[in-house]
Amino acid sequence: MAKNFSEMEDSNRSSNPSIHDLSDPERRLWLRGGLGLSLGGMLASAGALGGCANGPEGAGRGPGPVLGFAPVRASVGDRVVVPEGYTVRVLAPWGEPVGIAGQMPAFKFDASNSAEEQAVQMGMHHDGIHYYALEGSQRGLLCLNQEYTDDALLHTDGQATWTLDKVKKAQAAHGITVIEIEQRPDGWQMVRPSRYARRITATTPCSIGGPAAGHVLMRTNADPAGETVLGTIANCASGKTPWGTYLSGEENWANYFTAADVPTAHERRWGINKATWYRWPEFDPRFDTVRNPNEPNRFGWVVEVDPMDPNSTPVKRTALGRAAHEGAWVAVTQDKRAVVYSGEDAVFEYIYKFVSRDAIQPAGKGKTAAQANATLLDHGTLYVAQFDAQGSGRWLPLVHGTGPLTPANGFTDQGEVLIKARQAADLLGATKMDRPEWLAIDPQSGWVYCTLTNNSQRGTPGKPGVDAANPRVQNTMGQIIRWKETGDFSGLTFQWNHLLLAGDPANERAEAKGNIKGDSFAGPDTIAFDGRGVLWIGTDHSANSQGEFARLGHNQLLACNPVSGEVRRFLVGPAKAEITGATWTPDGRTMFINIQHPGSGSPRNGSNPRQFSNWPDFHPTGRPRSSTVVIRRNDGGVIGT
Ligand code: FEO
Ligand code: CA
Ligand code: CA
Repeated sequence: MAKNFSEMEDSNRSSNPSIHDLSDPERRLWLRGGLGLSLGGMLASAGALGGCANGPEGAGRGPGPVLGFAPVRASVGDRVVVPEGYTVRVLAPWGEPVGIAGQMPAFKFDASNSAEEQAVQMGMHHDGIHYYALEGSQRGLLCLNQEYTDDALLHTDGQATWTLDKVKKAQAAHGITVIEIEQRPDGWQMVRPSRYARRITATTPCSIGGPAAGHVLMRTNADPAGETVLGTIANCASGKTPWGTYLSGEENWANYFTAADVPTAHERRWGINKATWYRWPEFDPRFDTVRNPNEPNRFGWVVEVDPMDPNSTPVKRTALGRAAHEGAWVAVTQDKRAVVYSGEDAVFEYIYKFVSRDAIQPAGKGKTAAQANATLLDHGTLYVAQFDAQGSGRWLPLVHGTGPLTPANGFTDQGEVLIKARQAADLLGATKMDRPEWLAIDPQSGWVYCTLTNNSQRGTPGKPGVDAANPRVQNTMGQIIRWKETGDFSGLTFQWNHLLLAGDPANERAEAKGNIKGDSFAGPDTIAFDGRGVLWIGTDHSANSQGEFARLGHNQLLACNPVSGEVRRFLVGPAKAEITGATWTPDGRTMFINIQHPGSGSPRNGSNPRQFSNWPDFHPTGRPRSSTVVIRRNDGGVIGT
């Protein structure tokens, strides 16, 4: 998302340096593994990938998937650029009616749609997305996140002034959307009306599952049982489960709440302050922690949705821990248990995994797979990652009564451990990462990849220094780390290395050069594997495209052969947008991605919402619109071949 996370308060004040400040012997050991030391920060050499015996290339995979398209150049047009032989089309922009029968108000280009109309239209700022087949690769559902609102664009007169109606419209533009789509002779279109069409917003009732359900810290005056939350917000990335549901991460929820002048220690650790990004608390007391101190505890969860059942209730899965969840991604153990990986995108925060207690159940006996696994994610063990300097690591359990997670340290029970997962991870000595964004699991090699998008505070005075996993000071460029579990995905130890350090070799500052084999980029955010084993990388670097980002142009989508490390630029987005989400039809011939926040940073008063971008409509009185777009090869072939 475009808001400046590098300047966001670093709320991790824990002193768990443990392995993070490398001793000299550790540093030497690590450097012998093919990494070089430079200019006060440690940089992987260009040969780090090829020289690593632990990478997926060592598993007898051959050369990896072919990247069979001509790369596009970095550019700064207000358009979406794809390789020759490909076509990109806009499918579902913000404000389009989703297709609920009898409730399909047209989008108004002057943004004068009401809150009630917005609640049945595409929300704002599309992010994670997945395709759910109804008829193979011809007809299906798209389930996607609507991460946040740019209120300068959402309201006709911008956000200089606020009203309750504006808050309601903003809340209606958040959440999760389900639309039905099909491929017609004139291309992919939304099916409207559709019995699947649905909006889940910041006011939709969601139930709470897992150990924190009903916990005293989850109870409010409006919900004394602590079992039902109104809405989900800040929905960022997404995962698709093997049982057919959708997992959505609540990421920057803390910025919707206001605290007292002096926040509590718990609030401070979660970045909840007097200052807030939005003005919801002035009109909706739910978001004022003075009046509703437990309401924030009800956000920061992974939310599970069954897109196939429009009447199903979304469930917040507390067993997976509370965090600024980017998203959640599922792997399966040899005995068919679910392993859910998740990171939290904030400076110096952590990477987690959850291992379910029970095995995934098949559909049957009148139940869909989603219904058969309705409580699977409510029982299991949560772990946090610790990366050491020698390329190994371990998973530390967040289990009440284990190690320091005792009443003496403020944890009365497992529910409190999960609600205060950050504090628990602090005490366990987890590794403070450079803003973990998406994860992706290579279905062919079993390696798990995670984007660490940047951390410009790393190594600055008073902040943690470099460590092996986060090896650059003032890390403006980001890196992609990967690991292989010992045994299957339930393993408690792992081997890790970096796929790449992002950057541009033309930069002067050594830390901003990176070691990419191929096209330069910065700010890796979305990652997803396609059916051929290509790792697709969506970027979210500085929207200004200046300074160290100047030659990188606008945000982009790149394809990577994870075996060779080759990176090739596939797509460049419009002005001030990020590229996010990536999903395919089963045949690999249609790809859907999201263009988020084109024109970000337009004037707050709405005087010229087209100042930075007018994509995709270029309407004379319109405004830029986040959109789901469809990418096809003109000859109908598999994308990327
Ligand atoms: Fe919503 Fe961390 O991106
Ligand atoms: Ca992201
Ligand atoms: Ca990002």
